[in-house]
Amino acid sequence: MPNEIYPPSAEFAARAHIGSMDQYRSLYQRSLNQPAEFWGEMAERELAWFEKWTTVFDWQPPQVRWFMGGKLNASYNCIDRHLETWRRNKVALIWEGEPGDSRMISYQELHRLVCRFANVLKSRGLKAGDRAIIYMPMVPELPVALLACARLGIIHSVVFGGFSAEALKTRIQDLEAQVVITADGGYRRGREIKLKPAVDEALTECESVQNVIVLKRTGSETSMREGRDHWWDHLGREEGEVCPAEPMDSEAPLFVLYTSGTTGKPKGIVHSTGGYLLETTLTMKWVFDLRDEDIYWCTADVGWVTGHSYLVYGPLSAGATCLMYEGAPDFPQPDRFWRLIDKYRVNIFYTSPTAIRSFLKQGDQWPAGHDLSSLRLLGSVGEPINPAAWDWYYRVIGGERCPIVDTWWQTETGAIMIAPMPGATSLKPGSGTLPLPGVEADLVDLQGKPLGANQEGYLVLRHPWPSMFRTLWNDPQRYEDNYFKKVPGAYMTGDAARRDEDGYYWILGRVDDVMNVSGHRLSTMEVESALVRHPAVAEAAVVGKPHEITGQSVACFVTLKKGDYDEQQLGGELKQWVAKEIGAFARPEQIRFTEALPKTRSGKIMRRLLREIVTSNSVSGDVTTLEDLSVLARLSSHQDED
Ligand code: PRX
Repeated sequence: MPNEIYPPSAEFAARAHIGSMDQYRSLYQRSLNQPAEFWGEMAERELAWFEKWTTVFDWQPPQVRWFMGGKLNASYNCIDRHLETWRRNKVALIWEGEPGDSRMISYQELHRLVCRFANVLKSRGLKAGDRAIIYMPMVPELPVALLACARLGIIHSVVFGGFSAEALKTRIQDLEAQVVITADGGYRRGREIKLKPAVDEALTECESVQNVIVLKRTGSETSMREGRDHWWDHLGREEGEVCPAEPMDSEAPLFVLYTSGTTGKPKGIVHSTGGYLLETTLTMKWVFDLRDEDIYWCTADVGWVTGHSYLVYGPLSAGATCLMYEGAPDFPQPDRFWRLIDKYRVNIFYTSPTAIRSFLKQGDQWPAGHDLSSLRLLGSVGEPINPAAWDWYYRVIGGERCPIVDTWWQTETGAIMIAPMPGATSLKPGSGTLPLPGVEADLVDLQGKPLGANQEGYLVLRHPWPSMFRTLWNDPQRYEDNYFKKVPGAYMTGDAARRDEDGYYWILGRVDDVMNVSGHRLSTMEVESALVRHPAVAEAAVVGKPHEITGQSVACFVTLKKGDYDEQQLGGELKQWVAKEIGAFARPEQIRFTEALPKTRSGKIMRRLLREIVTSNSVSGDVTTLEDLSVLARLSSHQDED
């Protein structure tokens, strides 16, 4: 399997949007040679505009603007325009809750729900340019909230429900949000995960928030603060079902999504309206080969960028029927996903390598009990997919019939950048294959010099693309310094990669201090800052440790302040502390106590050495700059805590 190539089947190619390499090449060449004509044509064909743009794009590195002067609305594009076609009665969302409750929502019904909720927001005095924080479980009202904000031009920022009150607070504060949209709780592994108490805790230090709108999902006891907190249903009862979509500037921010960078402070990635919507819509056809009759399922939570682009905006704008599932993949049994595919006859299934690896481990008996023959295309996102996981996904889930689109992209890129077009591109397991139209990918060395075939280097994107992020909220300088300083005029992705002799890209992983745990980005510095806030901790260094299922796990080296500690107990307490400070998904797998951390003479923690220790429990290479070699020796001989 490792070096095998999988060309598209003639049957798949014959029906695909892009059915040959010639077609791909001609699109790609045109997109680079005549970007303004190419993207202008795409924008006209794919989106509904209230006013046409005057200029396709303006690139003054690092600032880019797309479809200047154009006016449109993302909610209108995701809903209203379908109402003028036969799609008005098409199912937009098929939803299943973890307890097994389900809902089918047509585009017409979605329109009513979104208009009603947009009217609720309006009645609370919210308007274009205001900011809403959305902190909700995976229920239909979550996309409804996004689309209602988009309808009025309110900038939304979804905070993943797994984030803690502390993480929620910093995001509300940075954004100076006026409203928080939340729920009493949601279901995960048969238990209620409460959300409202975290909102209450966060809001003790957020003066900007005047309104909290609470959806009743679980019906459990929830405290409501008079004047500030309102039940979603109570407010909605009085509102009408008509709410015109605001014509928004193409460049108006649609949303801000916080993601981890290399410091302790998350970055607010700002996405625009027109460019973002265009590329998420187009990639539904190019990469997922979406057809009107498809049932499409992206398993990502809307709290991450994949959920924004490929569960809400891309598929709804493209008129898809999307499956949305609330809970855990292994509840009540490890076959829940296969059961859902069978029950709803899913055709396109998009998930993460972490999920695939955990299914593989649980065994073939779980998918074997279900009819998966409706599947015609599989997707993977968030981390490199290893050969064993690819092979299992291809054989056991795809029945050796479904192409796998390995999609490389980032929160910053907004849409998929490197991926196969499944009716054209031959697959090589583990490679995202080729850049999509408009994506001028390249590999460079430390000096910014382009590299040749099979050399490993830094992945950069040279030409701006429509769904590119526009800035970092409240921090334009960091936007420039982080991404555009190292290679003049090019966007630095932070990933290392190799390009083979066929031009295929192989992503090797991050080159900065960002970990990838279950496909979720987590900064080593963020975990370190959380640890040093604990009263017993003097210093902390955090690195990603290779993990069989989640790709990486969080490993921490900690030095303690003077005192008498029960290390066993404190280790457990610190894990809990990080989960509380950031969120349960950031919980360290390992805490190691040490008398000192290995540092250079200038005082910089040598994370490379720590990475080597957690990977192999030994250290090789140059250690002559180490201040105290004995520290290293002690660390290497220390046994794992777990
Ligand atoms: O390192 C790459 C990895 O995930 C990072 C982006 O993380 P985030 O912004 O959270 O977005 C994840 C979902 C798009 C990248 O810098 N990554 C993403 N997709 C792949 C990948 N690594 C390898 N293969 C992929 N298909």
